Formats: sequence, C-alpha cells, structure tokens
Amino acid sequence: MLINHIVFSKRNRGVLLLQQELVRFLEDFASKQSVFVNKKVFTPSYKPEFIPHRNSLIEQIAKILAPILKFEKPSNLFIYGKTGSGKTLSVYDVIATFNSLSAEKNIPIKTVYVNCKLRGSTDTEYRLIAQLAREFGKVIPATGLPTEEVYKLFFSAVDSSNTAVILILDEIDELTKKTGSEVLYNLTRINEELQKSFITLVGISNNLNFVETLDPRVRSSLSEEEILFPPYDAAQLQDILSGRAGEGFAKNALDAGVIPKCAAYAAREHGDARRALDLLRISGELADRSNGKKVTAVHVDLAEDKIDRDRILDAIAAQPKQAQATLYSVIFASSGRQSAVLTGGVYECYKDICSGIGLRPLTQRRISDIISELDMLGIITARVISKGRYGRTREIVVPKTLQTPVVKSLLNDALGI
Ligand SMILES: Nc1ncnc2c1ncn2[C@@H]1O[C@H](COP(=O)(O)OP(=O)(O)OP(=O)(O)O)[C@@H](O)[C@H]1O
Ligand SMILES: [Mg+2]
Repeated sequence: MLINHIVFSKRNRGVLLLQQELVRFLEDFASKQSVFVNKKVFTPSYKPEFIPHRNSLIEQIAKILAPILKFEKPSNLFIYGKTGSGKTLSVYDVIATFNSLSAEKNIPIKTVYVNCKLRGSTDTEYRLIAQLAREFGKVIPATGLPTEEVYKLFFSAVDSSNTAVILILDEIDELTKKTGSEVLYNLTRINEELQKSFITLVGISNNLNFVETLDPRVRSSLSEEEILFPPYDAAQLQDILSGRAGEGFAKNALDAGVIPKCAAYAAREHGDARRALDLLRISGELADRSNGKKVTAVHVDLAEDKIDRDRILDAIAAQPKQAQATLYSVIFASSGRQSAVLTGGVYECYKDICSGIGLRPLTQRRISDIISELDMLGIITARVISKGRYGRTREIVVPKTLQTPVVKSLLNDALGI
C-alpha cells in the first residue's frame, strides 16, 4: 500500500513524507519480535525429521528397494498420488537411509535424483542422458553428439562403475511431455546392456492417469511395483502442521484455531500438505506485517484469499496471448456494469483490442470456446443461456478479484497495451 503510493504519487513532498513513514514502518518491523523463530522450516527444500502418516508407505518403498543392499536388482517402482501427498519427501527419506547404509556397510550403491519439471537438463532426451552420463564422470558436450552415442557413453560409464543404481525420475510425466516416451523405453531396457551394474527406476508422478498414457511395454516395465499416495485428511494435516509449527513458530504464537483452520481449508481441496504449510506460513507473515503478536484465524482467512489471488494471477500470466486478449475484453466490457456481459459484447471489444495491438482476431466461435476455457480454469464464470430462436450465448461474470489494478497492469504488460 505504502509502496504503491510512492510509485504513483507525483508530488515529491508527499513522496518524501511517505518515504519517512515507510522507513519508520521498516524500523518498527525490524525491531519487533516475529511470530517465527525459524522460518527455514517452511522452505520447500526443508526436510522434517518426522513424517507423520507416511510410515507404512515409506516402509513399502524401502522393502521394494531392499534387494539392492545385497547387490540384487529391485523391481522398478512407480509412485503416484495427488500433489502435496508427501511422495517426494518420502522417497527422499528412503534414499537418505539407503545412502547412509551404503556408506556405512561399503555397498556400491548410487542414487541419482532428477526433477523432470526443472527446465534445462531434462528438456530433451540428449540433455537428460548427457546429465546422467556426467553423474558417472563422463565429459559430454552440451550438444553435438548423436543421441545414440551419448547413450553408449552413459551405458559404459555405468557399467564400469560396478554400481547398483537407483534412478529417481520425479515428475516423470513432465519428462514425457517434453521428450516423448521413447526415452523411458530406452531407460527401461537399459539393464539388457549392463553386465556389472544395474539400474532400478523409481518414477514419481502426480498425474494419476500417467501410466495409462504409456506404451504397454514401457508401462509394465516402469510399474513392476506401484504405490499410491492417498491425499491427507484434515486430522492428518493438523499433525503435519503441528510438527512444523513447533519448529518454526515462537511459543504461544498461534491461536488455538489456526492449525485446525489451515488443515480444514487444505483438506477441502484435496488434502495437499504443501498448501496447508503455505497457508500457515503466509498467515504468520501477515501477522508479522500487521504488527500482531499472535497469528489468528483472521490471518488464515486473509492468507487463503492471498493464495487464491496469486493463483489466479499465475493462471492469467500462463495463458496464451489470445486468451489474455479475450480476458482483457471481458474485463473491459464488464467494467462499470452491474449485470453480466454477453459473448457478443465481449467480441466487439475483443476486435477493437486486436486492431489496437496488431493481433490477428479469431472468430466469435473460437472466442466463445476461450471464454468457456477461462471458466473451466475458474478465472471467470460463464453460464450458457438460451436466446430462443437466436440461439445460445454466454453470460459472463467477472469476479471482483479480477477488477483490480494488479490484474489490469498484468494484462497491459502481457499484451503491450
Ligand atoms: N507427512 C508429512 N509430514 C511432514 N511434512 C510433509 C508430509 N507430507 C508432505 N509434507 C510436506 O508437504 C510438502 C509437499 O510434500 P511433497 O513435496 O513430498 O509432495 P508431493 O507428493 O511430492 O507433491 P507434488 O506431486 O506436487 O510433487 C513438503 O513441504 C513436505 O515437506
Ligand atoms: Mg513431488
């Protein structure tokens, strides 16, 4: 709020006064005790010591991979479940145990973790295999070799290492989206090429239908064993939050209703522990910002609103230009109106905007489809109504959260208006 004033005010004296106010705010903020004692426990990379409600799943993973401790090849394993159900955390936990056992008992095990969602090293088959070969000490140029050659170098490096390898491909569906499933076919056949080493694959995905999209040969090989991570319920989320709150917040910094409310909100969607933890962290940040000494249920409501708003902004930013122009037109056509706008009115606006920014206009039918896609994403609400013999149209309502300067400036920037 203060910063907005500084950016937009043109009167220097006013700016100076506000700057002084801001400096005072920052000084107060710095001197005030935070509700947090260790905010690091809320960062995505933090690994908690206790992982409640995942004991039996962790045990299942460990038992499937256990033969590796005798240098026997375990089955490949496919782990799936909705986002925030603890898949990555649980696999990390098992891998940490195997790594320390292998060091302690001198067993030649190597674990390689690849997050296929990260851009760069998994964008093409070449890059992925080159990265894996580098893990085994090979020097591979960023481009230039035939992919087959990179595979050969990788195979020979693995084989001469005399190692039992666990290769974890997290967010594996992102890999096939980028490269196709050929790479998985090759990886699942890799042991046919190895004599002194072997590789066990652990694929992880939050796309519940992923394996069904695979070629049957890849599918049966990747999911020799399968483990489903169910979503958490509200009570389980409360346990997870309590554990993290104990490490991250000052004593008595949380009102009694805070954790149950964060858990209930996160459980209402699909039991996503990441969302529950984000809610708790943002509630704490809002309490700090409002100079409160305690986090209350009101902060949780504000945090929930903020997360929803941010999610909508992210969704808008990720839309293609035509969808952004359509949304801009919907907002423009409905600004200052009490009632809903119809597709026809939006289309007129859209054509004007297209000619203003030099965008090739799509047909009204296509814009109508885009409007229903924006509706499905929860960005706007569009209801089909019948206009008798004039056919059907859509009645579009723009939520208040979209009628803000932040959304307008995001769309202005995206469309170059
Ligand atoms: N049982 C648990 N105990 C403590 N923290 C947990 C637990 N389950 C999940 N978390 C925390 O919730 C967040 C999400 O967990 P994780 O990354 O393992 O989810 P995921 O199933 O891999 O989700 P995605 O499919 O989106 O990758 C992490 O911060 C993790 O530390
Ligand atoms: Mg994960």
